[in-house]
Amino acid sequence: MTKLKLEKILNRIKDDDLRAKVAEILENPMIKIGDKTFSGLGLEESPAALWQHHTYKGGLVEHVVATAEIALTLCKVIERVYGGKVNRDVVLAGVLLHDVFKPLTYILKNDGSLSSSPLGEKLDHLSLIVSELIRRDFPLEVVHAVCAHHGEYGPIKPKTVEALVCFLADYMDSQLNREVLRAAKYIVEEATGEELGELTAREAFKIVHLKAVEGLDGVRRALEREK
Ligand SMILES: [Fe+2]
Ligand SMILES: [Fe+2]
Repeated sequence: MTKLKLEKILNRIKDDDLRAKVAEILENPMIKIGDKTFSGLGLEESPAALWQHHTYKGGLVEHVVATAEIALTLCKVIERVYGGKVNRDVVLAGVLLHDVFKPLTYILKNDGSLSSSPLGEKLDHLSLIVSELIRRDFPLEVVHAVCAHHGEYGPIKPKTVEALVCFLADYMDSQLNREVLRAAKYIVEEATGEELGELTAREAFKIVHLKAVEGLDGVRRALEREK
């Protein structure tokens, strides 16, 4: 999963000015606070969270790509089923930017694991990106969509259709990922008695499918082959 996938989503933003503004942040996600500049893990390396969902390398880009697909499907439903109107540029910008500062809040430890960076100890990704978007003169609609992406657990609930789409798509993908990772880990434990360490969603979906068609024996055999 590469940055190219993000570029494809970016290129669907029709407004030239907005697309250029979003591109600038994606190319160089960093923030200046006082005389310090904070950048973090590369976008491609970063997970989307330290626990619960997309906890593996590349998880962030995967999460953004999946969230964009879900969001665009929601846009279609709003228009075709409910006859509503939705601004896809705002939705796409919101999805691309909503977690883009997460890598700034992580740090790679010597043992290869991740933990909160000194910046992440004091500020969360949502506050960071919202302040940067305001500093860079982003349209209010986009700032709102990003600011509201944690729904009732964030500083403000979604007040526009675009913000609602961003929130729901983000929530849906994080739950989808979290549940399949959980299920796969449980299945592997049942099959082998061993706890699995890091697992990607791709591997998790494979394990869940194997269990459904070949049972725990099939899972055991597949894991043996991979050893
Ligand atoms: Fe977030
Ligand atoms: Fe997210």
